[in-house]
Amino acid sequence: MNLKGKTAVVTGASDGIGRQVALKLASEGVSLALVARNKDRLNQVKAECLEIGSPKVEVYVCDISKRDEVKQTVNKIITDFDGIDILLNIAGVWQKLNKLQDIDDDEIDSVIDINLKGLVYMSKYLLQYFKEEDKDAIILNVSSRSGITAQEGQTIYSASKWGVTGFTEVLKTECKDTKVRVATVHQGGTNTELFNKTNEHFDQNKFIKPEDLADVIVYMLSRPAQIWLHDVRVEY
Ligand SMILES: NC(=O)c1ccc[n+]([C@@H]2O[C@H](COP(=O)([O-])OP(=O)(O)OC[C@H]3O[C@@H](n4cnc5c(N)ncnc54)[C@H](OP(=O)(O)O)[C@@H]3O)[C@@H](O)[C@H]2O)c1
Repeated sequence: MNLKGKTAVVTGASDGIGRQVALKLASEGVSLALVARNKDRLNQVKAECLEIGSPKVEVYVCDISKRDEVKQTVNKIITDFDGIDILLNIAGVWQKLNKLQDIDDDEIDSVIDINLKGLVYMSKYLLQYFKEEDKDAIILNVSSRSGITAQEGQTIYSASKWGVTGFTEVLKTECKDTKVRVATVHQGGTNTELFNKTNEHFDQNKFIKPEDLADVIVYMLSRPAQIWLHDVRVEY
């Protein structure tokens, strides 16, 4: 897809990988709908994106684990922009490493609700719009290395990410006769604040840099339909 002049919805745009993807798309002349919960951080990213060349940026405070908020947000984005071309489902949370019996019930619900169900509803509501508009469009879902491998202590995070992998694989088959292209990225450890936010601390020095991963994601988006990179694994 030729990105200049297109519009992308980016979830998880207030921090980490989503922020880097938003910045990279802004520098390519893409208009942006930035979605996350933290308004101040979203507004900071908005200012940076406008500064480096995005024609239009709007922020949407939305907890994607809440289905009604997702629906209202998608409707508002559709109203605010003159066409949407790309959905990047990047928002997510970590599940602190633990054996299943030691994982708090609320953490189980929140990891599944954000990482899996939030992504499902964002995709469902925007896919409906893409199909109604008969648009050339892209849905790119960020899964994880944990969405294709088994790592001890990650039952719930893996359940959410294997869920994203399965969801995306089936969605690809359902979209094969439409103009909507679907892709997943499975990256290994990336140097963001994801883990620190649960008080889990790793030596992240060797991890993938989020700006390098953003380059990969934007490269995928910018391929023509005839050379679609739909399932990319990135390791450090
Ligand atoms: N970092 C890694 O090593 C790694 C590896 C594999 C996969 N991933 C995946 O990559 C994605 C991005 O992670 P990251 O490393 O960039 O983490 P991050 O820096 O912590 O960013 C996570 C983003 O998700 C947003 N978010 C979290 N919960 C949300 C909710 N309920 N509603 C809306 N937005 C929400 C956060 O914004 P607010 O707090 O403002 O809502 C933030 O913008 C995640 O899906 C993660 O699972 C990361």
